[in-house]
Amino acid sequence: MSIPDSEFSPSADDAEVAPEALDRIAAARELARLAALTARADAAYYTRDDPEMSDADYDALKARNLAIEQRFPELRRADSPSGRVGAAPASGFGEVRHALPMLSLANAFTETDIRDFDASIRRALGWAADAPLGLLAEPKIDGLSLSLRYEGGRLVRAATRGDGATGEDVTANARTIAEIPQVLTGAPDLLEVRGEVYMRHDDFAELNARAEAAGSHVFANPRNAAAGSLRQLDPAVTATRPLRFFTWGWGATSEPLSATQSGALERLGGLGFPVNPHITRCKGPDDILAVWHRLGTIRARLGYDIDGVVCKVDEIALQDRLGLRATTPRWAVALKFAAETAWTRLLAIDIQVGRTGALSPVARLAPVTVGGVVVSNATLHNADYIAGRSAATGEPVRGGRDIRVGDLVRVHRAGDVIPKIDDVDLAQRPAGAVPFVFPDHCPECGAEAIREPGDATWRCTNGLACPAQQIERLKHFVSRAAFDIEGLGPRQIAALYDDPDLPIRTPADIFRLRERDSRNLGKLKNRYGYGEASAAKLFDAIDARRVIGLERLIFALGIRHIGEVAARDLARHFGTWARLIAAVDRAHPAAERQLAADAAERDERASAAAEGRRARLAPVRDAVWAAAPPPDAAARAAWDEILAVEGFGAVMALSLVITLSQPEERAIVDDLVACLDEITPPPARASASAIKGLTLVFTGTLEHMKRDAARARAEELGAHVADSVSRRTDLVIAGPGAGSKAAAAARLGVRVIDEGEWLRLIAT
Ligand code: IVH
Repeated sequence: MSIPDSEFSPSADDAEVAPEALDRIAAARELARLAALTARADAAYYTRDDPEMSDADYDALKARNLAIEQRFPELRRADSPSGRVGAAPASGFGEVRHALPMLSLANAFTETDIRDFDASIRRALGWAADAPLGLLAEPKIDGLSLSLRYEGGRLVRAATRGDGATGEDVTANARTIAEIPQVLTGAPDLLEVRGEVYMRHDDFAELNARAEAAGSHVFANPRNAAAGSLRQLDPAVTATRPLRFFTWGWGATSEPLSATQSGALERLGGLGFPVNPHITRCKGPDDILAVWHRLGTIRARLGYDIDGVVCKVDEIALQDRLGLRATTPRWAVALKFAAETAWTRLLAIDIQVGRTGALSPVARLAPVTVGGVVVSNATLHNADYIAGRSAATGEPVRGGRDIRVGDLVRVHRAGDVIPKIDDVDLAQRPAGAVPFVFPDHCPECGAEAIREPGDATWRCTNGLACPAQQIERLKHFVSRAAFDIEGLGPRQIAALYDDPDLPIRTPADIFRLRERDSRNLGKLKNRYGYGEASAAKLFDAIDARRVIGLERLIFALGIRHIGEVAARDLARHFGTWARLIAAVDRAHPAAERQLAADAAERDERASAAAEGRRARLAPVRDAVWAAAPPPDAAARAAWDEILAVEGFGAVMALSLVITLSQPEERAIVDDLVACLDEITPPPARASASAIKGLTLVFTGTLEHMKRDAARARAEELGAHVADSVSRRTDLVIAGPGAGSKAAAAARLGVRVIDEGEWLRLIAT
């Protein structure tokens, strides 16, 4: 049975409820939503060759769909993503109905999965655990599948997989691929050969370089490039694309090719089809795992993308006995590589200068696809990390192996975070590779760089005189959690920094932009993508920020160690800018003393270690504080007050006071503050909280508070806010339109309150 969409409008709310907490109606609604979402993702991936969702997100949607279908099998829809492979053919190509469906593969990710696969086959065949079972390990080529139909030895039709039953007719395009034979000698009268069209890395790089030079579409990765190239409406365009083909199977044939998968592939190889050289006959799961590990390590050097190893039962009579599921064979499984790592060459190590002067090493890499994204830059953390030791403990990392330019390195990418280098293959180190020498001067301004004791990072000592630091600080100043100025992002900041007429060098320059522009006869329009209207809009957006929250202002200053949380804590503690800056000014002499005391302690520790005695820190520190003239009581009181700010320690307090006491720095800040109309105090914090420690879920529309604000408030009051209702939920706050989450709460016996009650609760 399938439920028509019109009865149930998809609700984003259901997306947040765990499958086991959905009731029948919510489950039907959620299945409709998942079918629509995956169909859209399929269309983007298969039809437009332009994925809009990561593979991991897509897999998660399908897994969720399956979990719900398993609970409510009767709700499974005719258009369920569980029964779908790929997408229906796009318009523009003729349709081809496959004589035998083109199947997909079930996925495996771990050693256990592959052992389970072996065991399931033995069970299905009624075989003993130790009976010899011939398996074949084939690299899983990351391209797009193609079915080639030969009649009387001639290529008559080429079709993409499409939805598995019907594909697109790409015969004319396939004929342009040199590796696909047009004519066969000695082949069965009818033969459908199936395999993967793909693009090699070097060809992909060259194609993209050409496209970039011509200003045309640049592909995200070799797979998309292969798909986009094969699915060109004009075969003459396909002919210019460097497409290749590996065969991995067959469809309809007028006579059997062989008794085994491996024999059939050999036969196809003999007929002129490219067969991957890494295909290996295996005697059991151990052999398959060995191939998986080996291919995993040589993957980056293959020159084309593979995303796993396909494990197949070799004997075709056994394949036939095992048969098929809806869209996948029982006799094969794809053992995938962990999607987020790949090996590639380290071409260079560049040093980037951040807003606090930190010199960050960035790996420039030979581009490599990691989890569907081409990566050419990754972080190398710091000098110690490159040298093979931990900056914090000095202990070896990666077994003490250092990283050198030219090395084969492993890139690790998890979700959207910046990719990092996490391993190096010393066996692949080129002769003559030299240890990396971390610079002791700023690569941007040439000033001396230093590494302070206890700091993992080398820093440029030039402060605001270093242009790189200034630009990064301005980018931070306009960022989301700071002044959040619409229409003024990192690109515009970088461009305007050096503008001959309207340079932006300090935050105050931003606030004077409108006035400077009008003096310069409106020069901003027609620059950096601004037109007349967008320039006017930018000036308005800047003016709107002349009223700013104290916590945003503090955060925007980009003071080292003062992040969003510390800025909020300072704002809460001092309430106004005037009180904060007065405390900073008063505390300055004491902070200087603290710096000196820290330095003296460090010296004492070093001498004690050298002399083999115990360090006497307290007398050393006290002597510094007592040295004449000692800081006055007001300075000590102000310093103590800053130290007493919630969550503050000496490092944060020192950074705040010393930074704001430096004359050039302070002049810039005062100049900015003079441009502002109002600095608003932060919202007060309720002292004792009725919801502290509780787990809350919001659902439905809140009328007095935006969801984000309610969430932030709840967290401020010590509650944990979850997205879905489970047995661990303490309280659900349900506004109008609350749907399945409220129902789930009722079923699980979780207390549900309305917005009025919520407001009363947080007011106490
Ligand atoms: S066998 C019934 N073997 O992976 C057999 N597929 O995720 C179905 N692929 O649609 C496919 N390398 O496009 C097989 N050595 C290989 C493969 C391979 C790549 C692709 C193929 C398939 C997809 C399934």
